[in-house]
Amino acid sequence: MAKKVLVATEKPFAAVAVNGIREIVEKQGYELVLLEKYTSKEELLAAVADVDAMIIRSDKATKEVIDAAKNLKIIVRAGAGYDNIDLEACTARGIVAMNTPGQNANAVAELVFGMLVYMIRNFYNGKAGHELKGKKIGIHAYGNVGQNVGRIAHGFGMEVYAYDPFMTADQIKAAGAIPVEKAEDMYAKCEFISLHAPATPATIKSINYDLVKNMPKNAYLINTARQEIIDEEGIAKIMEERPDFHFITDIAPACDCFKKFEGRFFATPKKMGAQTEEANINAGLAAARQIVDFFENGNERFRVNK
Ligand code: 3PG
Repeated sequence: MAKKVLVATEKPFAAVAVNGIREIVEKQGYELVLLEKYTSKEELLAAVADVDAMIIRSDKATKEVIDAAKNLKIIVRAGAGYDNIDLEACTARGIVAMNTPGQNANAVAELVFGMLVYMIRNFYNGKAGHELKGKKIGIHAYGNVGQNVGRIAHGFGMEVYAYDPFMTADQIKAAGAIPVEKAEDMYAKCEFISLHAPATPATIKSINYDLVKNMPKNAYLINTARQEIIDEEGIAKIMEERPDFHFITDIAPACDCFKKFEGRFFATPKKMGAQTEEANINAGLAAARQIVDFFENGNERFRVNK
């Protein structure tokens, strides 16, 4: 029987990416099943019931979903962060979980600057704003997205600093940024901080009052990573205390505490970092290829669970 590959995307890929995925899957003699813009967990549970493989984005692959997928052998998160997959549930069932690192990194990095310019120019309301040239940007976590942010920041004429607990100073230097050993030092130095850390037990709520409060005058904190890494009460407290502090996010905050800071807070209505045709094609097609390569050749290169 033909293998079934489900694409389950609450926020759909661009049509051109779906066509590309279909081509890869069908060329192999597999069947593509599409579940887009679903609105309930029940729809997802029903769709996973008989599939062999599945491609998701930020969709939540909980234990309930994994356990409902009786034939599932592989799940690929078309993107970088895989905190939405219950890896233990996958491992317990012998299911391979993968991501597609780097494939949507440029899209996220470009959005960082799109949002920064939008805010430092006062949402284009006619009032004089600011420029990025000559300012310092600190990149918190210098992986694929962070390095793309660094590349673009150089184009704006910014001084680029990076903190990454998993990289040596030489690696950071070789990747184009000035390494900073302690996160606190980077925050105290840079007017702009761009967050690119994954949500892990170590990073959850780690962007907190004490870390951020000493940013220089006219500070901008921009989050295109995960909502969970922000200590929202702590950041809201800084905004209360400092009228020069700005917070921009591509992930809706959990608390209601930022709306009152009009002109200093901006959130995209829907997470948009990776939402370009190019990124959808890169990540979606990579996911489909990884599935085929896994079934046909046993390739587990991008496996993220044990
Ligand atoms: C990622 O981890 O790759 C990004 O957060 C993109 O998420 P999305 O696929 O839901 O847009």
